[in-house]
Amino acid sequence: MIQNNLIKILNEALGWELRATNMYAHYAANIRGIHRLQLSPLFTTEAAESTMHGDIVRKAIVKLGGIPVTERNPHAIIHTTKFDEMLVYSLETETQAATVYSEIMIELEKLGDQDLYDAIEQIYLAELRSLEELRLLRE
Ligand SMILES: [Fe+2]
Ligand SMILES: [Fe+2]
Repeated sequence: MIQNNLIKILNEALGWELRATNMYAHYAANIRGIHRLQLSPLFTTEAAESTMHGDIVRKAIVKLGGIPVTERNPHAIIHTTKFDEMLVYSLETETQAATVYSEIMIELEKLGDQDLYDAIEQIYLAELRSLEELRLLRE
């Protein structure tokens, strides 16, 4: 059934967003050195964006009749104070997010709920933008 599979991958996305919120907040607080000036605010913004994405996805799951997960994705959040390691793990996280949302977009095309499609597409595009930004930051 389209709906069940959709709820399943939306919950997967929610788990990654909950994890991203924690990870970015952790890095914003722990980053050391001169890059703290610029990257700490960037990580704080990413944490807030992840919370916002999670909220949209959570409401979408409820709208579809599902129960949203309350636990984050268990993929380890690696502690570090080094900006370059943080960027590697951030890029990894955004890549995961973009992959999950691209799967969701395929399922949403079958469902025919335009509101939901538009809402999730905005998130998907935001993930792609973050991915590109992180790619350029790492060069
Ligand atoms: Fe996100
Ligand atoms: Fe993201």
